[in-house]
Amino acid sequence: MSEEFKLELTSRPRRLRAAASRRALVEETLLSPADLIAPLFVVDGAGKPEAVESMPCVFRLPVEQLVAECRELYELGVPAVALFPCLEASVKDEVGSAALDGNGLLLRAVRAVRHEVPELTVITDIALDPYTTHGHDGILTADGTDVVNDATVEVLAKMAVLHAGVGVDMVAPSDMMDGRVGAIRAALDDAGGTSTAILAYSAKFASAYYGPFRDAVGSAAAAGKPPLDKRTYQLNPANRREALREGFLDESEGADILMVKPAGPYLDIIRDLRGQTDLPVAAYQVSGEYAQIHAAAERGWLDLCSARDESLLAVKRAGADMILTYFARNVAEGRSRA
Ligand code: PBG
Repeated sequence: MSEEFKLELTSRPRRLRAAASRRALVEETLLSPADLIAPLFVVDGAGKPEAVESMPCVFRLPVEQLVAECRELYELGVPAVALFPCLEASVKDEVGSAALDGNGLLLRAVRAVRHEVPELTVITDIALDPYTTHGHDGILTADGTDVVNDATVEVLAKMAVLHAGVGVDMVAPSDMMDGRVGAIRAALDDAGGTSTAILAYSAKFASAYYGPFRDAVGSAAAAGKPPLDKRTYQLNPANRREALREGFLDESEGADILMVKPAGPYLDIIRDLRGQTDLPVAAYQVSGEYAQIHAAAERGWLDLCSARDESLLAVKRAGADMILTYFARNVAEGRSRA
């Protein structure tokens, strides 16, 4: 190419990328710890934190360590945590009775966190999978092939009232039963829980990316069995209009925030919801999204921190106001190396 070759260009977008200071000025999306919600796993007993093998740097925490983790997260600028109980097999049964145990592990954990870190926003999941022997999110039909909708919703509403009673700020129904947001709103209001918000898992897809989470809470199918099939209640990954329909239903039933889950593979759904509702939109970067970045980084195939930030930025750019992510602490610590 000759030295004199020159394009007659009116636009040279590269002018604004020429230096870091100029790139900073034109940056459109900012990722901040204030946008993040840390999912945390709690276990009974006073033992040591247990590593979750398929989720590097994630631990099942006894209550005391959970409280310490919550305090540190809050001090680092992470405003909220989502708590999940990991119960021993002996506490689980077919119908998830332990979900209504007023002195169960999760409620004890919430009381402790509420007391020690009062300003932190505490979110709990409303679904039966951590409590059932089969790992489904609700009560099964007699032949065990499906989850019964209305009977499950009845339990979920009671569960939400229990959670609100110990000071949970937001309940997050993650079960995908029909009508559960309305039933939970009504039950909360009846019980005086008008200030408890509902973060609805509105568009929760039947995803392959939940595998590591199911290991963490012990809701995976038994070894040697095929993975749990939740397609009669979770959304078909092929369906975009149906996801929006679920979002509108949850909004009309009184949800305060609509959530899309998983996040990265469903950016179009986040974008669609953002454009069609005035409610805040949340996204859940799930265990499998987290694990795949870690796994590639362990092999030296990806840079962990760059891939972490890019994956989260994409979710915000798509329109999420807040993101549940297992990277929350790591991001808030401002780590550029894990
Ligand atoms: C179940 C629930 C799941 C997750 C959060 N709540 C898994 C499932 O539907 O089996 C997954 C979160 C993750 O993968 O990080 N109610």
